[in-house]
Amino acid sequence: MKKLLFVAVASILVAGTALASPGAESKGASGGGGGSTFIGIAMPETHVLRWTKDGASLKKFAENKGFRAQDQYANADQNLQNTQIQNFLTQGARAIIIGCVNDGVAAAVADAARDKVTVIAYDRIIPNSADYDYYITFNNFKVGQFQGQGIEKGLNLKSATAENPKYITLFAGSPTDGNAFFFYDGAMSVLNPYIKSGVLKVVGPYPETSKDTANFQRIATENWLAPTAKTRMENLLNADAKDVVLDAVLAPNDTLARAIIEACKADAKYAGKLPVVTGQDAEAASTALIKNGEQYMTVFKDTTKLAEAAILLAEAAVKGTTPNIPGAVLASSIGLADIGNTGKKVVKAYLLDPVIIYRENWQDPVNAGFYSQDEIAQNGLK
Ligand code: BGC
Repeated sequence: MKKLLFVAVASILVAGTALASPGAESKGASGGGGGSTFIGIAMPETHVLRWTKDGASLKKFAENKGFRAQDQYANADQNLQNTQIQNFLTQGARAIIIGCVNDGVAAAVADAARDKVTVIAYDRIIPNSADYDYYITFNNFKVGQFQGQGIEKGLNLKSATAENPKYITLFAGSPTDGNAFFFYDGAMSVLNPYIKSGVLKVVGPYPETSKDTANFQRIATENWLAPTAKTRMENLLNADAKDVVLDAVLAPNDTLARAIIEACKADAKYAGKLPVVTGQDAEAASTALIKNGEQYMTVFKDTTKLAEAAILLAEAAVKGTTPNIPGAVLASSIGLADIGNTGKKVVKAYLLDPVIIYRENWQDPVNAGFYSQDEIAQNGLK
């Protein structure tokens, strides 16, 4: 069905409305820059702030290199993203950088391959496709390990006992996003031993790993939508967690962490003390909550560096040179080649390193120049 719809959309575009892209949410719709080689930037959504920043950084770095570039955002709708990719192809793109919504993107990637256009999977792997060669991301298992370590530290699990256990509830990201599995498995690699020894008790569903698909689905947050996580947290507080005080919540990113914190704040039981809540992305609004002690930690992924690295990769691919990407390691060189496994092929995966952020080092992303002046001012990050 998905495929049929895509074919229909594609033929309409080919029929002559290529640049119109009805309904496409476009930022920076102008090609920009004076260069002639065109790079398309297809980002998945705007409701998680990082993607608008990623898109803008990618465009800026591409233009600095003399490329023409355009960034498009898919509103978590793969059909829309496929239309946007098709549009880039019609405009003669030589490379397309894709943060996909889900595996439905493979059809558009196949079209790009047919046109000999380089595709770079950006941050999220493009699953079930043998039609591209490069993936650039962070070490996402490590991101999850950091979240697990945050809980270990926040609850002082190393000295906790089964007589006086700590209580946690678990959330995961979108099951349509390969990263969500790495984040969860990384976190649980730290937490499972404490659960097994009885010092940490799970309230609500407990998938030991993401391979427990049925339970993973129950804790997952489709399309990373904050209202979904908030409602689930409210439901937990009124049901499974009614008779306990939660000490921690595993939250996969900052957008969801803040929704979970909001739900807890509305419950009188947590008026004096919020649970330890994890996060990811170092969004300015969450860094502010870490600074004031309401969110326990986040994981800073310097996406400005990721964008810069992706453009270096695109440049090398377009020019047919060997990529040299400072700050990124080849996953295969550190025994993690499988990160590039699409299910149909192992692509070359480049990894950047995440950084763990607690209250004591909340200034790290500020010092790295990660926030705009507006973000700093609006969130009191001085
Ligand atoms: C990214 C995270 C982001 C999440 C939701 C993941 O693929 O790695 O940084 O928070 O998507 O957009």
